[in-house]
Amino acid sequence: MHKQEFFDQISHDWDREHSTPEEYERTRVFAQHFGLSKGETVLDVGCGTGRLIPFIKDAVGEDGILVELDFSLEMLMIGCLKHQHDGLYFVQADAHHLCLRDNQFSTVICMAFFPHISDKAYALTEFRRILRPGGVLFVTHQMSREELNQFHKEVKGPVTKDLLPDEAGMRALFDDAGFKDLTIRDEPSLYIARAFA
Ligand SMILES: C[S@@+](CC[C@H](N)C(=O)[O-])C[C@H]1O[C@@H](n2cnc3c(N)ncnc32)[C@H](O)[C@@H]1O
Repeated sequence: MHKQEFFDQISHDWDREHSTPEEYERTRVFAQHFGLSKGETVLDVGCGTGRLIPFIKDAVGEDGILVELDFSLEMLMIGCLKHQHDGLYFVQADAHHLCLRDNQFSTVICMAFFPHISDKAYALTEFRRILRPGGVLFVTHQMSREELNQFHKEVKGPVTKDLLPDEAGMRALFDDAGFKDLTIRDEPSLYIARAFA
């Protein structure tokens, strides 16, 4: 099964699991790690059903722009039906080919998404291309790298080999794509890689 079909099929379950009051609160607290400010232009890539939308929109305010991008139409449709705001746009696209102009975004967020990218080196050059100089990229999970990789190995289907590279692998990928000042926090229930364009 192709990955896009896999994510289409799990979209309703994914949304249900992440819509409980406990998960909403956990995501609200987690989103504070992004340190967003009013007026920012943010890309949430591999956005799924848009569980970050309320927190990003709240942080960037009415003058901010949020683009929610995913290749799964089913995931996007759920998000699109739940959330409508000025300055909020939904785009169906593959993260390897963003169809977005250069130097437009101040922040790119990959939440629970990076391991699923088949050509990470190429996708990183795309993220860097659309970021303004000094813009920030986050690769985040609500699990440590070890917890996440174990979790994916146990999932049946086309994501079973979607693993997060080790720190040396991440450094090589980010360096080759031209990102600077990479920091990685990897602890129980938290993984945050942050780097600047
Ligand atoms: C595990 S879900 C995470 C969704 C969301 N970021 C969240 O935290 O709830 C991964 C998402 O990445 C999307 N995805 C996977 N590969 C993609 C690609 N190459 N381009 C765009 N989206 C992709 C899937 O459709 C899915 O919605």
